[in-house]
Amino acid sequence: MFVTISIFNLSFFLIINGDNSSAINFEAFGVSANYSTVLNNANRVFNEIFTVRNYHKELAPMDTSLESNSSNESRLQIGVTVQMIYIVNLDMAQQNLLTYVELELIWQDVRLAWEPENFEKVPTIWIHCDQVWAPENIAENVSREKFSFSNVKTENVISIEEVFPDRFKQCKLYANGTVHYDTILLIQSVCSMNIERFPFDQQKCSLQFTSQIYDMNLINARGELFTKQPGVTPQGNAEWSVVNCTVEKIHYTGYSSAGMDLIAFWLTLKREPKKSRLQIEITIQLLYIFNLDMAQQYLSTYIELALTWQDVRLAWKPENFDEVSTIWVHCDQVWTPENIVDNVCQNLALL
Ligand SMILES: *[C@@H]1O[C@H](CO)[C@@H](O)[C@H](O)[C@H]1NC(C)=O
Ligand SMILES: *[C@@H]1O[C@H](CO)[C@@H](O)[C@H](O)[C@H]1NC(C)=O
Ligand SMILES: *[C@@H]1O[C@H](CO)[C@@H](O)[C@H](O)[C@H]1NC(C)=O
Ligand SMILES: *[C@@H]1O[C@H](CO)[C@@H](O)[C@H](O)[C@H]1NC(C)=O
Ligand SMILES: *[C@@H]1O[C@H](CO)[C@@H](O)[C@H](O)[C@H]1NC(C)=O
Ligand SMILES: *[C@@H]1O[C@H](CO)[C@@H](O)[C@H](O)[C@H]1NC(C)=O
Ligand SMILES: *[C@@H]1O[C@H](CO)[C@@H](O)[C@H](O)[C@H]1NC(C)=O
Repeated sequence: MFVTISIFNLSFFLIINGDNSSAINFEAFGVSANYSTVLNNANRVFNEIFTVRNYHKELAPMDTSLESNSSNESRLQIGVTVQMIYIVNLDMAQQNLLTYVELELIWQDVRLAWEPENFEKVPTIWIHCDQVWAPENIAENVSREKFSFSNVKTENVISIEEVFPDRFKQCKLYANGTVHYDTILLIQSVCSMNIERFPFDQQKCSLQFTSQIYDMNLINARGELFTKQPGVTPQGNAEWSVVNCTVEKIHYTGYSSAGMDLIAFWLTLKREPKKSRLQIEITIQLLYIFNLDMAQQYLSTYIELALTWQDVRLAWKPENFDEVSTIWVHCDQVWTPENIVDNVCQNLALL
């Protein structure tokens, strides 16, 4: 009813819209006049968008009239920005990388825009993200094991968990309808490691994001790094330091008529040999003293030495092998600290 009237009488719409008769004077509760005004205006913006308008968050703001040859500029722009990365673990046996990633998604949903002039210049409001449509598929579980492109090795994200409980998800909404959605994700991804140069190796792993749901001719995703706080650098862990981190957009043709875009964040990790120094334990298992020659002043002994070390390149997950946690192999099969041990080595599952 109200909307119908406003279409025919814009000025009436604006008067109603600018009405602040329901405003509450919060100054009476001891806060500043400015704060009271901001609260009232933010409330009016919220009412305008979510009560007065027929905004449906279930409806995506896609321009479905776009053809498969649409220009990038005409598509819905989605910013995929990594604001922080912490390396939790790089597992050599599983070839898995575990990271905490602060991911910020930015898009413009013009249905959420307002004229600041009509609301005493309120420039932004913070709202619960559940209030708005979000391109959530991008931050979802992107398991792409089945994908393979000729000559292109694609890494896959095995699982993504959101760290923030839903209750705390806040989105920043700008007057032009731009939404900033910041979330922290625990991401497990496949990283094919090359360990020829162990323990002085570097590994290159990627985190890749794409839309699984929307047609590629409707959206244009752009990857960016650390835009919020300049000078931020990704954090390694005790074993790995981050050499660099870059972002790249990969466009595959032939997947569909519009092709497929992937936002790939590349991490180059360097093993810190200091921190992962090879530990070699030498245990004397048996000691036979067979001669203590007083005259010659020497001691002859047979000593059974057990050398124990960890070579993670030999690790396996027992649960993947019927709980087999140790095997015996000939020592020639493995790298040994010295040529002391000749015959038989006991190799323990180390993980
Ligand atoms: C109502 O709006 C007018 C003009 O926009 C402003 O001067 C007045 O302070 C507002 N009243 C309240 C209670 O916010
Ligand atoms: C209140 O807002 C007015 C106008 O924006 C500004 O000039 C004034 O300094 C503000 N007062 C305080 C205490 O922040
Ligand atoms: C896209 O293709 C259609 C024909 O299928 C053509 O009419 C249109 O001009 C093309 N648009 C662009 C941006 O190339
Ligand atoms: C548009 O997309 C093509 C491939 O999809 C890419 O090569 C080009 O750089 C993009 N242009 C812009 C402005 O994003
Ligand atoms: C992600 O996908 C994998 C494989 O499809 C599945 O096993 C896993 O449960 C999913 N994780 C989440 C958080 O949805
Ligand atoms: C919307 O407003 C924000 C804040 O002023 C600005 O950073 C952004 O570029 C604007 N977006 C568009 C699409 O105009
Ligand atoms: C990142 O580091 C690797 C290894 O040092 C190097 O090959 C690559 O060129 C670097 N990339 C950038 C963008 O600096």
